[in-house]
Amino acid sequence: MGACTVAKCVLCCAGDMRLALAPMQDVTDLAFMRTLCRVGSLPDLFITAYFRSTRTTCAMAENNLRCIESNETGVPIVAQLAGSEAAALCRDAEALLRLPVAGINLNAGCPSPLVNRHGAGAGLLREPENFLCIMKSLRQVVPAGKFSVKCRLGWAEPEEFHQLLPLLEAGGADEVMVHARTRQQLYGGTPHRQYVAQAVRSLSCSVWANGDIATPADANAWVQETGATGMLIGRGAVRNPYIFRMLRGGAAPSKEEMLHYYMVLTEETDRILHTKRTVAGHCNRMKKYLAFCYPDFGREDEYELRRCKNIDDMRRIFERHAAR
Ligand SMILES: Cc1cc2nc3c(=O)[nH]c(=O)nc-3n(C[C@H](O)[C@H](O)[C@H](O)COP(=O)(O)O)c2cc1C
Repeated sequence: MGACTVAKCVLCCAGDMRLALAPMQDVTDLAFMRTLCRVGSLPDLFITAYFRSTRTTCAMAENNLRCIESNETGVPIVAQLAGSEAAALCRDAEALLRLPVAGINLNAGCPSPLVNRHGAGAGLLREPENFLCIMKSLRQVVPAGKFSVKCRLGWAEPEEFHQLLPLLEAGGADEVMVHARTRQQLYGGTPHRQYVAQAVRSLSCSVWANGDIATPADANAWVQETGATGMLIGRGAVRNPYIFRMLRGGAAPSKEEMLHYYMVLTEETDRILHTKRTVAGHCNRMKKYLAFCYPDFGREDEYELRRCKNIDDMRRIFERHAAR
């Protein structure tokens, strides 16, 4: 981590770069969004984790709904849908649009076998006709300026993106957010930036980049190599929530600020769990975020945090770590 030291940083000079918190099921939840607000490092946009949409039902996941209904951060929030049936997705988009959402995002990137088995998430990339039909149908029901698609480069090979580009153009989304990996890459391997550059050149809508953006230097490289006008940051923001501040030219966090982050997150998680809270449950919830922070703790603290069953012990480890 460090403040932006990139000479002639394109990003710091470009005030119109848009930043979003990437959706992460059970991680970028209301507690995390409120934490970003309290530590004073907010993106321009939140996107909920996906609402699963099927013919019979839209699982209105309580966690995701809470993000929309209790979002007092002032940051607009877009609702994400994952499904493979146009009629069901349109029905659920209309229902979600009645809530205070800034738009609807279609998930075409989730690699979960359970989701893909039904042709949803990244499964849409293997069924181009249905993918196009879904995008066009959603385009009909989502108002102008409010429809976006989050996709991967393809199922197996990044070259598949060449065939996806005309579909994305014809689908008529206002924004396309590209996680620059294939479904088979899951969350590892190098993101293929050149395909995002290609999307910027060939799509008429705005293009957001996503994949391993964790420092101003990463972001700067993405902007220079792709020309994307927006960036989605997921794991990097959980590890360092001050990344949004840094990408606007602010300072890297001090040790005290990182301790403040862990403490605030602990409090906000407690607030969310509320009456359902148990000591072990609170620790387990914290471990969902900490999974992305362990590299900053060192082996000994990581070992103890992973085994922690008591939230006060967890707080003590945070304090000890900051005091070192
Ligand atoms: C635990 C976890 C949950 C995720 N849940 C979602 C989701 O609900 N919807 C979605 O579009 N992407 C989801 N993603 C993918 C992220 O939004 C993002 O595309 C990916 O992590 C790459 O960005 P990053 O390197 O900035 O984390 C998830 C990723 C992780 C690690």
